Amino acid sequence: MNLKDITTKTRSYRRFDESHRIDYKTLESFIELARLSSTGANRQPLKFIIYNTPEDCEKIFPYLVWAAYLTEWPGPDEGERPSGYIMILGDKSITENFGIDHGIAAQTIMLGATEAGLGGCMIASIKREELRDEIDLPDKYEILLILALGKPIEKVVIDEINGDDVKYWRDSANNHHVPKRSLKELIIKLK
Ligand SMILES: Cc1cc2nc3c(=O)[nH]c(=O)nc-3n(C[C@H](O)[C@H](O)[C@H](O)COP(=O)(O)O)c2cc1C
Repeated sequence: MNLKDITTKTRSYRRFDESHRIDYKTLESFIELARLSSTGANRQPLKFIIYNTPEDCEKIFPYLVWAAYLTEWPGPDEGERPSGYIMILGDKSITENFGIDHGIAAQTIMLGATEAGLGGCMIASIKREELRDEIDLPDKYEILLILALGKPIEKVVIDEINGDDVKYWRDSANNHHVPKRSLKELIIKLK
């Protein structure tokens, strides 16, 4: 796959074959991609936690909020849940300002996941305080993002946007549709 193919395939997937487990080394190799990525002032303030056992995954899942636009859908059912997570933390002993470092790291990891035949979803809607208690996270770490990963079982279709409606939706076959603005709309030309 070339970069355009990988990027196109790197959609947000929220339903997985949970029986497909992801080994620790694979998740570690994704973090290696993040390690090699750009970071403001070369501060490298991000830290990562890998979760891949069924017990670990069960522990993290309740603290995540899925697909806010799909109001009728409470999130993936048992058997369709992620089989690995990478938690991206900001280490406040290095800096209090993480800038856009976690976005860069997250997308790089998601591209790596696609290359490895996996997929997932970046989750920023997290019940942070409850999760912090659950995992006994030391105060110096801020929970920035959680990447939910697995073997996707859903089809995601990119649609042309209709007007200004950015809401993703599911059709009767449960395919997930994501409206994207056109290139023409994105590139502005000043006089
Ligand atoms: C920073 C960020 C935070 C996100 N947080 C959530 C989230 O909490 N829950 C969720 O289900 N999806 C989340 N998403 C996924 C977006 O909804 C998704 O990227 C968007 O619908 C576009 O779909 P696409 O990723 O397939 O292009 C997040 C995405 C980004 C970039």
